Amino acid sequence: MIALFTVFALLAFSSATSVRYEADWKSLDTRPTPDWFDNGKFGIFIHWGIFSVPSIDFDHNNHSEWFWSFWKINQSPKYVDFMNKNYKPGFSYADFGPQFTCELFEPDQWADIFKHAGAKYIVLTAKHHEGFTLWPSNYSWNWNAVDVGAHRDLAGELKAAVDKVGGVRFGMYFSQFEWFNPLHIEDLKRKPPTRNYPNMVSYPQMIEFVNNYKPELIWSDGDWAGDADYWRSTEFLQWLFNESPVKDSIAVNDRWGSGTWGRHGGYWNVMDHYDPGHLVGHKWENCFNLDRYSWGYRRTMTSSDVRTMLELINELARTIACGGNLLLNIGPTADGRIVAAFELRLRQLGRWLQTNGEGVYGTKPWIYQNDSNIWYTSRLRSDVGHRPDRVFNSQTEKNTIVYVFVMQWPHYGHLILPSVKVTQRTKAQMLGHNHHINVEPYEGGGAKLDIGAMDWHSLPSFDAWVIKLEYLQTEHRNPLKELIKQGVLDENGRPVALNVEINDNNDDSEEVAGFRKDRYDII
Ligand SMILES: *[C@@H]1O[C@H](CO)[C@@H](O)[C@H](O)[C@H]1NC(C)=O
Ligand SMILES: *[C@@H]1O[C@H](CO)[C@@H](O)[C@H](O)[C@H]1NC(C)=O
Ligand SMILES: *[C@@H]1O[C@H](CO)[C@@H](O)[C@H](O)[C@H]1NC(C)=O
Repeated sequence: MIALFTVFALLAFSSATSVRYEADWKSLDTRPTPDWFDNGKFGIFIHWGIFSVPSIDFDHNNHSEWFWSFWKINQSPKYVDFMNKNYKPGFSYADFGPQFTCELFEPDQWADIFKHAGAKYIVLTAKHHEGFTLWPSNYSWNWNAVDVGAHRDLAGELKAAVDKVGGVRFGMYFSQFEWFNPLHIEDLKRKPPTRNYPNMVSYPQMIEFVNNYKPELIWSDGDWAGDADYWRSTEFLQWLFNESPVKDSIAVNDRWGSGTWGRHGGYWNVMDHYDPGHLVGHKWENCFNLDRYSWGYRRTMTSSDVRTMLELINELARTIACGGNLLLNIGPTADGRIVAAFELRLRQLGRWLQTNGEGVYGTKPWIYQNDSNIWYTSRLRSDVGHRPDRVFNSQTEKNTIVYVFVMQWPHYGHLILPSVKVTQRTKAQMLGHNHHINVEPYEGGGAKLDIGAMDWHSLPSFDAWVIKLEYLQTEHRNPLKELIKQGVLDENGRPVALNVEINDNNDDSEEVAGFRKDRYDII
């Protein structure tokens, strides 16, 4: 544990002076993720591309954006039949390109929705595995949104719109590999692999995008078909952190080549929907879809496929209580709309956050993460003596404020919080409500909050509530240490489970075509 904190202390100092990073993980991994990312807590993921044209999935496989792969690589019968039934013989995936028209795309309206959703950043699929770029890339000739379909610089327009509303940072999702790029396929046939595809396509594309659009986040993906050397990842990150126009504010994830997930780069995505349910010793992010069955848009989506407010708030609470950020995904349509069901939910969530954001933005995990499905965050009145890069806040009577996320109205109006230890001065109040909540010690050490006296009609929400607690007992508890003792985390704060969940094996030739069964399950 001492070692862990020493590392954090060194990180804090290194960010203050201007360090130069080397092109190796040992050096790159010491760069702290900028504070804006941790403070922001909530972002919006946008899966948009040529796949938004067919916009269909079968058997709830959760990936309408993998249409091309299911159709041509897996030759999955339902996809093949769908194409045979509805399209002329010889219709190719590229023929969907001109139909990605985006004629109703109003970037200002999108930016307004994101802002009012309470999101602090967005991540746009600037290029997904299909290789189509939403910006006029000089390295994606005739397979980009200015040459084909919309004839607009979609990434550029969206970036300009979010910059205009302010408070929402622009991020780039970027697929390293492309299913059908012949350069990439040829590279991987060679032993050792040649690097023509990264040299001529993916690497210059990232540099081009960063220089032109100055994203503040890069969400790398599609990296598993090669190692970090193949993608030139460490070289790229060195440039990004030392030289690029966004070197001070850029946040990056961990998908930089097979074996890097949950280990290297910036914050950890680990796998899609990563949601460990316990504290982790490193910043992480949970990407989560609003349509429970897909990232890309599906025309067959029904209202019950859209996650409820309670599901969203619950996911947000359990994520931030454990040190993560929530990246909530929407899939816009090929004509450029965010469908009403998504817009409604985002605006509802934004309204909820207007009342309860105090317990969300700029908070840290507490010394306890949860009591069953009640989740905790915390904030310090004064930061004196505390490192900005700490993973959780300490508990002192005078200085610590605790926020309690309640997902279910308790029976008999009594909220029992086993991890909360009260003092004479303890104060409790629901955010968005001025009623003073009576608090008393509960037998066995916890706290009992009397919320039954609050009139149901006066509550600020009918979904979930946040209660602010002040002046709880000072308590020395290090949740990371507890988790290390339990064998959940290793001595570096890394979940032990990740060592088995992530398969680093990269010798499967099926990956050349971009598909591997065991990988697909978690992508
Ligand atoms: C798709 O996601 C749903 C809900 O998260 C899950 O129940 C289902 O098993 C997933 N389907 C596949 C094929 O992975
Ligand atoms: C593509 O190259 C041209 C000519 O060198 C340059 O003017 C343009 O800015 C480049 N486009 C991008 C997106 O970098
Ligand atoms: C906290 O939540 C986790 C995961 O949902 C659960 O396994 C654990 O038992 C909970 N802890 C407490 C103290 O209730």
